[in-house]
Amino acid sequence: MNMSARKILVTSALPYANGAIHLGHLVEYIQTDIWVRFQKMRGNECWYVCADDTHGTPIMLRAEKEGITPEALIARVHGEHSRDFTGFHVAFDNYYTTHSDETRFYSEDIYLKLKVAGLIEVRSIEQFYDPVKQMFLPDRFIKGECPKCGAKDQYGDSCEVCGAAYAPTDLKDPVSAVSGARPELKSSDHYFFKLSDPRCQQFLREWTRQGSLQTEAANKLHEWLGNEGDNKLTDWDISRDAPYFGFEIPGENGERNTGKYFYVWLDAPIGYMGSFKNLCTKKGLDFDEYWQPDSTAELYHFIGKDILYFHALFWPAELKHAGYRTPTNVFAHGFLTVDGAKMSKSRGTFITAESYLTQGLNPEWLRYYFAAKLNGSMEDIDLNLDDFVARVNSDLIGKYINIASRCAGFIAKRFGGKLSGKLAGSSGNGIIEEMVAAATSIAQSYEARDFGRAVREIMALADKANGYIATAKPWEIAKQAGKDAELHQVCTEGLAMFRLLTLYLKPILPKLVQRAEEFLNVAPLHWGDSGFQLPHDHLINPYEHLMARIEPKQIEALVAANRESLVAVEPSPQRHAEHQQNTEDKMQETTHISIDDFMKVDLRIARIANAEHVEGAEKLLKLTLDLGPLGTRQVFAGIKSAYDPATLVGRMTVMVANLAPRKMRFGMSEGMVLAASDPDNKTAGLFILSPDAGATPGMQVK
Ligand code: 2FM
Ligand code: ZN
Repeated sequence: MNMSARKILVTSALPYANGAIHLGHLVEYIQTDIWVRFQKMRGNECWYVCADDTHGTPIMLRAEKEGITPEALIARVHGEHSRDFTGFHVAFDNYYTTHSDETRFYSEDIYLKLKVAGLIEVRSIEQFYDPVKQMFLPDRFIKGECPKCGAKDQYGDSCEVCGAAYAPTDLKDPVSAVSGARPELKSSDHYFFKLSDPRCQQFLREWTRQGSLQTEAANKLHEWLGNEGDNKLTDWDISRDAPYFGFEIPGENGERNTGKYFYVWLDAPIGYMGSFKNLCTKKGLDFDEYWQPDSTAELYHFIGKDILYFHALFWPAELKHAGYRTPTNVFAHGFLTVDGAKMSKSRGTFITAESYLTQGLNPEWLRYYFAAKLNGSMEDIDLNLDDFVARVNSDLIGKYINIASRCAGFIAKRFGGKLSGKLAGSSGNGIIEEMVAAATSIAQSYEARDFGRAVREIMALADKANGYIATAKPWEIAKQAGKDAELHQVCTEGLAMFRLLTLYLKPILPKLVQRAEEFLNVAPLHWGDSGFQLPHDHLINPYEHLMARIEPKQIEALVAANRESLVAVEPSPQRHAEHQQNTEDKMQETTHISIDDFMKVDLRIARIANAEHVEGAEKLLKLTLDLGPLGTRQVFAGIKSAYDPATLVGRMTVMVANLAPRKMRFGMSEGMVLAASDPDNKTAGLFILSPDAGATPGMQVK
């Protein structure tokens, strides 16, 4: 470790211990892992810790539903999460659990210090209580009618139909989602962290002014804090009543029988400390060096933009007033969309990490694609499946790997695996020097988490290397007598270029690079190695193909494997057409279908949330259909001749919700709106169906 090495502690958000890791999660873990690997390659002392977020009501109820203890549930999920992260080469230095002695210790410690500082207050509040289950209900476990739009079956905090936010007590006809009972209002003492205290507000203003926050984060914080003198922050409820799976809040004399538990979000970020403390014990590291208030170590939290409030307000304020150091920075990223839309189970784009791996897809394809899309901002990133195939095949196989595969064979067959002795850190046309010089700007891009820029720089260099080889044409030199030295030189220079590209891609593609290092017969590459060349007469190992291309059918299979069963039984449009052809005669014989056939069609009530003309389309209108709890769908409907889009917005209609999505010239169409017409759609016109008053979005039609 060199003396000027930075000491850096890095975390990713802790995933809940009751759900599978999916591609949306992986954006963050891959982003963090690339950054950490880069820091390690630079020679910095960088530690990457994470853990399962194990506490709270949903985990308690999930375990109960499965008939197991919460401890058994979180142990099982810990195994599943660890398997998935390892599968994607996310190399935590410690992957722990918040249900640990260390996290309990720091939770109590921070709470008691905040209490001594006068920042904890106990207040009685009234909340919904399930009299059958005998528990207070979190907002998400209460359902009822939206007070604003009247939609039924809405959660206690917000309406998925009209988007209104409200208190659970505003719901009409509330019911407990746990037992179905009508909840009652009941009072109980709750513990609050006094974020409204002037000390917290003052500190957070200073912390925000540090200057290195992402622009979007700084803007959000300003919105939350308001101007100097404003008092916009409200106190934060950090306790929950029994029954609850979590840490019990200690009483006056440290006793643990208060019946009050730390709210899961209180101990979750403390889980970062708990995981690091556990690592310190295993490795003999000094915990205080990283967490004391005057620590010179750096602390970074990688998170999704949805949990900025917890990490940029509550967490620094807690740490500050409990006498610990505060984060150096919080790096928030945007959400993942797939083919331009929210991940969807019915479309098969809610893809789990496990299914990606078990379908045999290479995790480094995804690491590369995400890297190419990440730019250090909070913008959402889109996994466009066609682009994914094209980009990985073109960049990794067509550009990067291609260099090695074009040069390696000649070195092996004609020169016994030995490189030319004349590679003195230079190549005839200066490409190697240019590649060496690029180490600085590529490093800046990695440091700034602008991996997209790093990838663009690296691929531009790969283009130059390929251009050099294409011009030199080693395959032609090889056929000419007396040109061995030239052939040797060109292939050696090609491989020297390949080695530099390998080094620069290493944070993104750790396994591929490991195999490339074995092929090149070099020790694990560090960033500083960019300044050196391969030794003269260096021997390389036989080349084996380093990476396969992605086949589009692999992506189709992946999407099919993730599509939920309702849609899986629906034939694709093409198969449907074939089926019609092959059975035309039979269809004429009988006009009956079975009830089972009919039930395959998922008809739903939809509210037309938006309707618009489609540029260049003669017959189509683009509709956004709101299916209530089932989300929204985009549908292109051939009803332009009959409707002015403005008259459709807000109308209720009926749609086929499980029609396989179809890619049209104007975008994806995710269903079909039902309309009545005469056979040619002309004589009598077109009439979309409307349900009677009372039907709400998402209701099934049968
Ligand atoms: O939003 C979530 O998935 C939380 N489990 C993240 C917790 S991050 C940290 F604070 F622990
Ligand atoms: Zn509503």
